[in-house]
Amino acid sequence: MVNLDGAPGPQEVRQRILELNTSVWAFAALSFALEAGVLDEASKPSTAGQISQRTGIPEDLVNGVLDVLVALGFGTADEHGFVASPGLVTISSGRAKKLLAADLRSTRLQTADLVERATHGTIALDGWSYPDPKLLEAQGLHSAQMVVPWVELLFPHLEGLPERLREPTARFLDVGSGVGRLSIEICRRFPNLRVVGIEPFEIPFTLARRNVAEAGLGDRIELRPERVQDLTDERCYDLAWVPVLFMAADVAARGLHRVRTALRPGGWALLGSLAVEGAEIQPAVLRLVSLLYGSGRLLPEHAAAILTAAGFENVLALPAMPGVAGRTIVGRRPVDE
Ligand SMILES: C[S@@+](CC[C@H](N)C(=O)[O-])C[C@H]1O[C@@H](n2cnc3c(N)ncnc32)[C@H](O)[C@@H]1O
Repeated sequence: MVNLDGAPGPQEVRQRILELNTSVWAFAALSFALEAGVLDEASKPSTAGQISQRTGIPEDLVNGVLDVLVALGFGTADEHGFVASPGLVTISSGRAKKLLAADLRSTRLQTADLVERATHGTIALDGWSYPDPKLLEAQGLHSAQMVVPWVELLFPHLEGLPERLREPTARFLDVGSGVGRLSIEICRRFPNLRVVGIEPFEIPFTLARRNVAEAGLGDRIELRPERVQDLTDERCYDLAWVPVLFMAADVAARGLHRVRTALRPGGWALLGSLAVEGAEIQPAVLRLVSLLYGSGRLLPEHAAAILTAAGFENVLALPAMPGVAGRTIVGRRPVDE
């Protein structure tokens, strides 16, 4: 028999649901402040009246949104106006602003889609494939955010990689290149790098062609409508990104054998996974998202085991980073193969 002693009664359940509703509204207030330009104006100390004048948003609404931001700890307010916290200013200005907006938009559109599917009875666990260009673009920008921590924190620890990526022969394989944002971002970081992006779904593939052309990188980024498990390249790449969080375990296993062959000896594969163990809300949500993305309960240790089984060496699941949902797993094609 299940022991339900201590299980919450209706009042506590209602209270918990109220807290969830509150979080959703706080998320909406932050998204509004970012999308409507309130955060741009609030990056320097300003009154709600000044922000209202500059944005055209009613002063009461500005006040209401700033009130929520203060409650979230993202700023302070006194009689002279609102002062955003340095952390909020850093992640909501310059280039970071676009990435934060994409992050929030991607969560908003995907969660709305999930609930929408319930009301239309169109629920299938068929992996990550959305037709909405706004969502694809937001997810693409979200994935491109990884490039900075890769370059600054991860690559210096992957033997030989920083040097190889600067050589004239440098090549990167972007598996599941989507709308091409990650490929574009990494090209900007490494001027000699050439990229092959493989993407089997037509809508993101078409958007990627346009984005790559607009970025003026058509001569450095080659896009192919291909699946990783069908890859036939050999000894071409110094680095491959394989987001196994979007793949069933058997596809990831077959794909990683192909990726090993496609890498140059000593080249590195980076994998991304989402699911983690734990009884708290965040791990539980990550497991749900992992399921919806098509990778079931693929834990970082499983991804590492698949890499090892595919013949990779120096396999390591990196520790979680604060503020980052996914986990990264690395492995190297043996140098002497
Ligand atoms: C979230 S998107 C990647 C976003 C991308 N980094 C960008 O900049 O737009 C993940 C992609 O993996 C692709 N994908 C899923 N299964 C795949 C497979 N077996 N081989 C190659 N790509 C796959 C999906 O079609 C999807 O576009």
